[in-house]
Amino acid sequence: MTTYPHTAALMKRGTDFLGCETAIMCGAMSWVSERNLVAAISNAGGFGVIACGAMTPDILDREIAATKALTTKPFGVNLITMHPGLFDLIAVCRKHGVTHVVLAGGIPPKGSVEAIKESGAKVICFAPTLALAKKLLRSGADAMVIEGMEAGGHIGPVSTSVLAQEILPELAADHLIFVAGGIGRGEAIASYLEMGAAGVQLGTRFACATESIAHPAFKKAFFRASAREAVASVQVDPRLPVIPVRALKNKGTEEFTAKQREVAALLDAGEVDMGEAQLQIEHFWAGALRRAVIDGDVENGSVMAGQSVGMVTKEEPAADIIAELMSQCEAALAR
Ligand SMILES: Cc1cc2nc3c(=O)[nH]c(=O)nc-3n(C[C@H](O)[C@H](O)[C@H](O)COP(=O)(O)O)c2cc1C
Repeated sequence: MTTYPHTAALMKRGTDFLGCETAIMCGAMSWVSERNLVAAISNAGGFGVIACGAMTPDILDREIAATKALTTKPFGVNLITMHPGLFDLIAVCRKHGVTHVVLAGGIPPKGSVEAIKESGAKVICFAPTLALAKKLLRSGADAMVIEGMEAGGHIGPVSTSVLAQEILPELAADHLIFVAGGIGRGEAIASYLEMGAAGVQLGTRFACATESIAHPAFKKAFFRASAREAVASVQVDPRLPVIPVRALKNKGTEEFTAKQREVAALLDAGEVDMGEAQLQIEHFWAGALRRAVIDGDVENGSVMAGQSVGMVTKEEPAADIIAELMSQCEAALAR
């Protein structure tokens, strides 16, 4: 078996925490991160994470059971904090003895971190700023993911390189911080590990793995795209704050602009409140992503992709992607 001594040493805190061989997490991707990709990542020594997205507790129950049938290795479950059934989903994770729960999509609601920890699972949260990272760690988060705007899917305003420089020197010595966003090669992993990261999280690089169930047309769109085509959505109405989403530019991108105008008009007419307006926007994304990933409609659907998409050129088994990242990282650290 290939060994990566320099990388393994720097990843040790991360691998001890995750319970796997390499501290490379495959970030949850709605519709993409289901049983097949998650099990393939974990079987290859990485850490797969199921994207719960808008799943009901019953569907999540079945997905976890099916994943467990495909791997005996640890994997996590990513829950969206604004899911109306969050506490029921936590109960499903508890029933299955899920070891790690990732809370995404905003500040965790009161009691959610405690509920997960009571089940014996570790809690991983996202932090868009140093202040929030400190607050979440104080509130009981066991590890943090800091994710820059190069990433695919919903993004914050700050780049990974700046977040890493702001947060790692302050927190990495005493806390487990995983870096995400724009990582396409092992050399980048090496640099974040040297800055103190416990590990990394990638999404875009894994979306087209052989084991990913994404539609062939979705994968083809990734193979053809370059970094500059993975663009962030724009907010058209200052009263309607929408979280930007990074995806390949297509007709769907334009439809999102139209959708925002439609929702803003409903807001103006007093037909919906701000909460409902934002929910409508999120439902738009969920539907659009499904159209691209499952139906293969890459023109009208949302082909969420990070800027590292230019480094995704062919379909490869998850194990090969992880092995390549690890050997690039090792070579960089051994220099
Ligand atoms: C197609 C796609 C769908 C995603 N869906 C989710 C999601 O449902 N929940 C989530 O927390 N992150 C989601 N993400 C973000 C990933 O989990 C991961 O953090 C991100 O892809 C890392 O950055 P990278 O794309 O530059 O590697 C998604 C990313 C992509 C590309």
